[in-house]
Amino acid sequence: MLKSKTIAIANQKGGVGKTTTAINLTSALGILNHKVLLIDADPQDNTSLGLGTKIPCEKSLVHLFDENSSALQQIMQTHSPNLDLIPSSVNLADLEINNISKNVFELKKALDKIKDKYDYLIIDCSPSLGYISVNSFIAADSILIPIQCEYLAMEGLNKLLKTIKEIKVNFNKELDIEGFLITMYDKRLKHNQHIINELKAYFDDLVFKTVIKRNVSLSEAPSFGTNIFDYKIESIGSEDYLNLSREIITNRNKMKNTTKTLGKTIQQIMNDNKETNVVETSIRKNHLKHFEPFDVKKKNFNKLKNLTKEEVIKRLGLVYNDIHSNIWMYRVSERATVFRKNFLYLTFINNRVQSIELRRFRRG
Ligand SMILES: Nc1ncnc2c1ncn2[C@@H]1O[C@H](COP(=O)(O)OP(=O)(O)OP(=O)(O)O)[C@@H](O)[C@H]1O
Ligand SMILES: [Mg+2]
Repeated sequence: MLKSKTIAIANQKGGVGKTTTAINLTSALGILNHKVLLIDADPQDNTSLGLGTKIPCEKSLVHLFDENSSALQQIMQTHSPNLDLIPSSVNLADLEINNISKNVFELKKALDKIKDKYDYLIIDCSPSLGYISVNSFIAADSILIPIQCEYLAMEGLNKLLKTIKEIKVNFNKELDIEGFLITMYDKRLKHNQHIINELKAYFDDLVFKTVIKRNVSLSEAPSFGTNIFDYKIESIGSEDYLNLSREIITNRNKMKNTTKTLGKTIQQIMNDNKETNVVETSIRKNHLKHFEPFDVKKKNFNKLKNLTKEEVIKRLGLVYNDIHSNIWMYRVSERATVFRKNFLYLTFINNRVQSIELRRFRRG
C-alpha cells in the first residue's frame, strides 16, 4: 500500500483559486475512493465555510500547535464521501503573529500522528508566507501552485519558489513541486492561450495537463456550503476537478515506479535564463503583409513617437495586451529570466504614440 501523501496548496498571491482547488480536489479524491483529510490553514476560514462548517467551531487547526492537545480530536467529518476536515479559526492569525520564532516542525509532528489514516492530506494555505505556511511546507511532501490565467501570472512566484527552496535545503529534503495548476482559464480571451504557452515554456511538464476553466458554478458552490459535485455535478468545473484528481493519482502511481522527479527541478527553474533580443510581439505578426521589424534598442524608441496605431503594428506586430485601448504593452526580452521581464509601454493620445516607456518587472 502507498503511504499517505501530504500536498500543500500555496501561492502568496491572493484569489488565485487555492481554496476552490482545496475544496474540490479533496472532494474529487474522496469520490474516487481515496481517504482524504483537508486542513484549512488560512485564518480567513473560507475552506471550512465552503464545506458548510459552522464557525466558530470547537475543533481547530490552532490546537495542533499545542503539544497537550490531540490532533485526532480536531478532525471532523464532512458531508462529502471519504473527506474529513480540520477547520481553521481566527485564532490562527494570532499564532501567525506571536510565534514567529517557535518550532516550525509543530504541524508536521502533529500530522505525523494521524496521517496513516489517510491516502491524501491536503493543506489549504493562506496567501502569506508566514509561520503557518512554513509549518505547512515542512509537513508537506509536495506543493501544488495554482496560477490564475492572467497577465503577469507569474509575478511574485520568485519569492514562493525561493521559500520552497530554502525549506527543501534546510528542513525538508523530500519536498517537491506537485505541479503548477492553471486556473480560471477563459478561451474567449485571446491572451489566455498565450499565457498557457508561456507557463509551459518555463515550467515544462510541471504544468498540469488539466486546466481549470473559469466556471461560475465553482464560485457559487461555496455560498451553498458545498463542493461543485453536490452543487452542480454536470458543470464543467466538476469535470475539470475530477480530471485534476485523476492526474494527481496517475502521477503518484508513475512516481512509485521511478526514482526520477517529474519535470524541471526547482533549481533548474530558478536558473532558467533565456537570452533573446527581440520584441515578443503577437504570434500573429507573421500574417501581416508589410511587416517592418523594429530593432528595439532604447535609442530607437524615439522613432515610435507620433506614429499611428497602424504604423506601430507595421513595426511591432499586434499588441501583447488588448485590454487598454490607449496603452499598448509589448514584451521585450533581453536576458530575461522567469523573474525579470521588460515591457514596452506605448501610450496613445488621439491615435498617436505620445509616450514610450520601458518598464522592468521583477517577479518577487
Ligand atoms: N475556476 C473558477 N471559475 C470561476 N471563479 C473562480 C474559479 N476559481 C476560483 N474562483 C473564484 O475566485 C475567487 C478567489 O478564489 P479562491 O478563494 O479559491 O482563491 P484563494 O487563492 O484561495 O484566495 P485567498 O488567497 O484569498 O485565500 C473566489 O470568489 C472563487 O469563487
Ligand atoms: Mg483561500
